[in-house]
Amino acid sequence: MSGGRTYYLTTPIFYVNDAPHIGHAYTCVAADALARFMRLDGARVHFLTGTDEHGQKVAKSAEAAGLDAQAFCDRVSQNFREMARLMNISNDDFIRTTEERHIRACQALWRAIAARKTPKGRDNIYRGTYAGWYAVRDEAFYGEEEITLGPDGARRAPSGAEVEWVEEPSYFFRLSDWQDWLVDHYEKHPERAAPAGRRNEVLSFIKGGLRDLSISRTSFSWGVPVPDDPQHIMYVWFDALINYITAVGYPETATGAFATFWPADLHMVGKDIIRFHCVYWPAFLEAAGLAPPKRVFGHGWWTVEGQKMSKSLGNFIPPRQLVEQYGLDPVRYFMLRELPFGSDGDFSHRAVVHRINGDLANDFGNLAQRVLSMINRNCASRVPAPGTLTPADEALLASARALHARLSADFAEQAFHRALEALWQVVAEANRYVDEQAPWALRKTDTARMGSVLYVLAETIRHLALLAQPVVPQAAAKLLDQLAVPADRRDFAALARPLVPGTQLPKPEGIFPRYVETAAPA
Ligand code: MSP
Repeated sequence: MSGGRTYYLTTPIFYVNDAPHIGHAYTCVAADALARFMRLDGARVHFLTGTDEHGQKVAKSAEAAGLDAQAFCDRVSQNFREMARLMNISNDDFIRTTEERHIRACQALWRAIAARKTPKGRDNIYRGTYAGWYAVRDEAFYGEEEITLGPDGARRAPSGAEVEWVEEPSYFFRLSDWQDWLVDHYEKHPERAAPAGRRNEVLSFIKGGLRDLSISRTSFSWGVPVPDDPQHIMYVWFDALINYITAVGYPETATGAFATFWPADLHMVGKDIIRFHCVYWPAFLEAAGLAPPKRVFGHGWWTVEGQKMSKSLGNFIPPRQLVEQYGLDPVRYFMLRELPFGSDGDFSHRAVVHRINGDLANDFGNLAQRVLSMINRNCASRVPAPGTLTPADEALLASARALHARLSADFAEQAFHRALEALWQVVAEANRYVDEQAPWALRKTDTARMGSVLYVLAETIRHLALLAQPVVPQAAAKLLDQLAVPADRRDFAALARPLVPGTQLPKPEGIFPRYVETAAPA
């Protein structure tokens, strides 16, 4: 495909200090649903995920594991690749910040920033000494006023991470000179930081005054060397953010992937890292003379059975366990349906089972199963031919046909929950229609009318299955197989190509099994 609409979206790159858990899977699933939606909608998509491998946190974890840092990263990075496969993530590239292409991009961006002046005509990068608080867990610097002293004598950042005093020679990025530009940027383009509540937090942080940012470290060596001064390695967040341009070929900007895909359409991130993406990142890019991303969305955090996930509680749920217990598509559906995207939520067994047995098995699964078995039994397994359509038939078809526009608007705003709610409203409407039209009774009185009703239902289910693909790709594919929809008629352009009467259908099979409790949950 050449020309046409493009869409570049990214997940955060994951620190390789830990095993993947539900929070990582969540970011990936949300971005994946969007990537799939955009591809089905005809866009040329570039979807990136990967691992963040430098910095003190990773260096310490490697040391604790008794491994050389690179060997440790190689091993843990692989776990994230496997998580992406497990969750059926359709990424086009997987970046690792220890790759040669990335080191080259970091050094080029550093040079580009250093070569240019701030809006106040000063050097963007200068040398000094950092003396202040640092939290290794967050890989972040904190001001004195942000630190609290706990009863245990530990000093903590607002995130709860312990901080330590750091004093070392460092290069600084003159962020303070970019304050007015950043305020103006978000006032002119409010859609660039979402949801609105997070944008307000970002703006008030910027307006509160920006301090220059330390962007190099000298007290350890696991990082990208600063050009012409390799005693310094780049601050891990400076290095990490650059992954988004490395992956599109930076420093080559005039041609190739960068020219096609930059600026990114969306960086999907968790709410904890919005400041890095909405304050530092656009300032670095603008300072280098590059365009800032079009949008950053900060989603909420999951608790598990009402509790924050933590090492001490040992309640990190590995994505594999979820998929084995509930099935992949039900987990994907739950994550995107259960809460307004952007809000925090709780991952509880009860809530998952409720969605599986309610929305998936009873509502959608049952609708498909009822209709397809009636066609199988009463229409010789062929798509029936519709007769003259009644207002009730037209109304249901109109609702199904209106979905694409509705979902496009919802996906454009990352309102996945609203998109799914809209799909399930049509599921409910179709279930009411089956009950009202009672095709099983028509079988005895008016088989032609029964054919029309089943046709209308099958065509509605085709719409639902096509549009559900981004969220439940495997289940939707199974359903489209059962409707004998050919592989080249599964994109959204094919919504306009109705089922052909007479098409032979395979034997129907359930797509969303009920969850049956095998033992009382612990
Ligand atoms: N390495 C940085 C990102 C650099 S991007 C240039 C990082 N990595 S992380 O592995 O700690 O976190 C990755 C993502 O997982 C973040 O977006 C974070 O918000 C998300 N989550 C971690 N725990 C989470 C929950 N409990 N719930 C939802 N998402 C959470 O930060």
